[in-house]
Amino acid sequence: MTAKVAVIVGSLRKGSVNRQFAEALAKLARPKLELEIVEIGDLPLYDQDRESELPASVQRFKRQIESADAVLFVTPEYNRTFSAALKNAIEWGSRPWGKNSWIGKPGAIAGATLGAVGTAAAQSQLRSVVGAIGVALTVQPEIYLNFREDTLKDGEIADENFRKLLQDWTHAFADWIARLKAPALTF
Ligand code: FNR
Repeated sequence: MTAKVAVIVGSLRKGSVNRQFAEALAKLARPKLELEIVEIGDLPLYDQDRESELPASVQRFKRQIESADAVLFVTPEYNRTFSAALKNAIEWGSRPWGKNSWIGKPGAIAGATLGAVGTAAAQSQLRSVVGAIGVALTVQPEIYLNFREDTLKDGEIADENFRKLLQDWTHAFADWIARLKAPALTF
């Protein structure tokens, strides 16, 4: 069965390498996973005073997360951490108290950068944050992408070895989602 995955891309810019990568991954992951990008650019800055009447964009965002089987964060690295836009989306998703949209979702993290460290620092910090809001993160295989001009060809992953890694990742994540969906044991 195809699992529906909400993809949150941490960069807002049109030419984002993370968005390009997420779109290429979506093609490669079908039909095991249906990856759909959930937009975060229209979310206002998180403000607890607005929790009593959630802005329409926040309601839309929370509904999209809640209706997905799993979540995937695709993060850039900004100043050795993940982006403020992504943190803002995480805040809204986690609130109001008792209405945490993330809780119990199977999740994964990937990231692309133009730098050589491939978002390792950003992902490490993101991992501790999304763990704290109740996302059940899978670990292997990890995806640290040093995005270059030849990474994509016609919107698809060009390198054969990297395609293979992403196929392994797709299977591992689909298995992880299925495992967490299994009915609880009863004694
Ligand atoms: C960066 N960049 C960057 N790269 C990196 O590997 N480590 C870092 O700490 C940073 N810091 C950083 C800060 C800010 C404010 C910007 C705008 C950029 C470079 C970054 O990897 C590059 O701009 C990517 O293209 C960002 O991803 P998107 O926006 O293309 O998805």
